[in-house]
Amino acid sequence: MTIIRRHFLKLQFCLVVMAVILGIYYPKICEQIRSINLGKKNTDNGNLSAGNNSDLLLTKEQLNEFNGVGGQPIYLGLLGRVYDVTRDEKYYGPGCNYHFLAGRDASVAFITADFKNYVEDEADNVLALKSPAILSLINWEKHYKSDYIYKGKLIGRFYDESGHPTKYEKKFRAMAEEAEFDKYNKQKLRDKYPDCNIKWSMEKGSHVWCSGSSGGKQRNWIGYPRKLYELDNENFRCACVKKENLDTKEVVIKPYDNCESKSQECYYNVN
Ligand code: HEM
Repeated sequence: MTIIRRHFLKLQFCLVVMAVILGIYYPKICEQIRSINLGKKNTDNGNLSAGNNSDLLLTKEQLNEFNGVGGQPIYLGLLGRVYDVTRDEKYYGPGCNYHFLAGRDASVAFITADFKNYVEDEADNVLALKSPAILSLINWEKHYKSDYIYKGKLIGRFYDESGHPTKYEKKFRAMAEEAEFDKYNKQKLRDKYPDCNIKWSMEKGSHVWCSGSSGGKQRNWIGYPRKLYELDNENFRCACVKKENLDTKEVVIKPYDNCESKSQECYYNVN
């Protein structure tokens, strides 16, 4: 009887140990099973770069299979690079908010937010986008690079069949650099010519004025309100301009009508 009990206790102890080990290693085991499946898929499809899972080279059709349907891993393409987003199945899985982005490169949708209409030939055609949109895509890229596993490249617009960047990719990167530079210059201009304080009222219209803390920044000068037209912009904003910059040629500045040139506040009506 005691022998049976001792065996039973041993069995119980073994079961507890196994349960603990399984609990700890469960995610790793799942990942292993997934990569075995993926390895099988690699050999099935032939074209996925062999062996090294961390730098795959996928066709559109191959990428399309990794869309989370039927328990498949979920890959997302952005700017021709592919990331494994399986761990956030709650966003990208079938039926979830961002499933549209799964198994494809739909870079343009990150800007248009059109998660319904997928036009294969246009979905990753980003060169027509304006600078702020290009910078937004670069920010999304940083997000996927830092939060998810990079898997490799998609053969197509951005990378050729050997995985080398295409002319299109180089053009995009050049545009991104230019957009970064534009943003930097705009910020420099905003530091030099900060926004005025603005208040609107029914009786008086717009009231603009300069003080030591307008434009969200403290400074040790006040300046004069002027209409400032940035070079690529037909519209103006009210900027506080230092006395020594009133004749600047780096931006177009104009005085407000009916406002003393050395007044630190002006009123105007937009008709
Ligand atoms: C251009 C528009 C948008 C794009 C491209 C976009 C895209 C995304 C993506 C890709 C994620 C997953 C983030 C991750 O992987 O960590 C996400 C998450 C999320 N987004 Fe958006 N989103 C957009 C607009 C919005 C708007 C307007 C709202 C709210 C009104 C919103 C609310 C959320 C929330 C709450 C999450 C967290 C996950 C969730 O609960 O689904 N998004 N978004």
